[in-house]
Amino acid sequence: MKKAWGGRFAAETDARAEKFTASIGFDKRLFREDIEGSKAHAMMLGRSGIISPEEAAQIVQGLDEIKQEISDGTFVPDASAEDIHLNIEQRLIAKIGKTGAKLHTARSRNDQIALDEHLFVLSAVLEIRKAILALREVLVNRAEENLGVIMPGYTHLQRAQPVLLSHHLMAYFHMLTRDDERFKEAGRRADMSPLGAAALAGTTYPIDRSWVATKLGLSRVYENSMDAVSDRDFIMEFLAAASICMIHLSRLGEELVLWSSEEFGFVEMDDSFATGSSIMPQKKNPDVAELIRGKSGRVIGDLVSLLVTMKGLPLAYHSDMQEDKERLFDGFDTLRACLQVAAGMLQTLKFKPERMKEALKRDYSNATEVADYLVSRGMPFREAHEVTGKMVRYCLEKRMPIGDLSLDELRRFSPLFDDDIYGLLTPEACVARRNTLGGTAPEQVREQIRTAKELLSQTRSELLQDV
Ligand code: ARG
Repeated sequence: MKKAWGGRFAAETDARAEKFTASIGFDKRLFREDIEGSKAHAMMLGRSGIISPEEAAQIVQGLDEIKQEISDGTFVPDASAEDIHLNIEQRLIAKIGKTGAKLHTARSRNDQIALDEHLFVLSAVLEIRKAILALREVLVNRAEENLGVIMPGYTHLQRAQPVLLSHHLMAYFHMLTRDDERFKEAGRRADMSPLGAAALAGTTYPIDRSWVATKLGLSRVYENSMDAVSDRDFIMEFLAAASICMIHLSRLGEELVLWSSEEFGFVEMDDSFATGSSIMPQKKNPDVAELIRGKSGRVIGDLVSLLVTMKGLPLAYHSDMQEDKERLFDGFDTLRACLQVAAGMLQTLKFKPERMKEALKRDYSNATEVADYLVSRGMPFREAHEVTGKMVRYCLEKRMPIGDLSLDELRRFSPLFDDDIYGLLTPEACVARRNTLGGTAPEQVREQIRTAKELLSQTRSELLQDV
């Protein structure tokens, strides 16, 4: 097929080069954005007297028909026309003739592709924020319904202090809240129109960039045409936010893998979110959680790949930048799928409070309580730490929990002990006494859940309003 840019070429494109340079295989996904952008551009050309209003109307109608044709498969873009932009333009010319050939006035594919990507990122941000919202809602609901369940809290993966399961779950809620903010902010910066930058320097035609931006629902235009066609920050930011969010999901996945092992036994995956082994009949594998963990590497790869692609590029457009789309699409698809499946997995997850309680019975995660008790009786903390450490060693040798020591035994370590110590050693007491702001006491966690719900309803109305 004759190339749109074929005028200065005497020879045909080599078949290998044509296949190699074509991006239609992946950028066809942008056909809706491309057509919306072209329609707004054509209307502006008509309003500004660059083409006639009748020509603009004809182009708009042709573009609407092409959108339908691509949606229902009656027009299939192909590699001979290189990319989505040229495919649509050629189709338009085939449909409406010469007038169609006027669409590309005062525009370049450089600003056109940038516009398409801005529009894509904006709807992707909305999709991701909705999926994050759904997962945050599951976390808050599960935290609320399990208030009162106590489990060991860990540092260095060693038992540290008892915490509420709800407190643990709410930590993920807060991580995802920050993710939501990051995506919102990424969306704010993507909300900008590059159209009218043309190839890089602007154009000689009397265009109205702001009108096009407003028509497309974009708040601003790029103030520098070279920046407009060179900028991929908004995609890097999207992928950076996606990577951080994937890291959160991956850490959650890792915890669920650990917790569902026989050794922990704190949770059991619902059958609907687990798989079996083809050889070992007894097995129930936490594949969903493992794959979420695994796919975080992939999204981080998307980000790093784009960063490396961009790092050495002089201004302005280069074909290297054609590589950005597969990274963006993959990062978006992967994150959205992980968020959706994580919500389902958590929603159906069975917690095992008895196993958590059992784990706390014979451990030393109440040792800090003993030290704090001695401090309340006037002993300096460092000394109390030392005394308690000796008690733990004694108990380890005797294979008994601290709470089983008799008052006589306790007093051998310090005469400050009285029998009011025993009431402080239960997991319930350990948790309840951590009643400082953001602590694990039920009162604090209840407050966290209350404010979380407020935040959720704000985000919910913000996102619904946007649709
Ligand atoms: N297919 C190209 C891309 O994805 C569109 C822009 C092409 N511009 C150009 N001058 N070759 O980036």
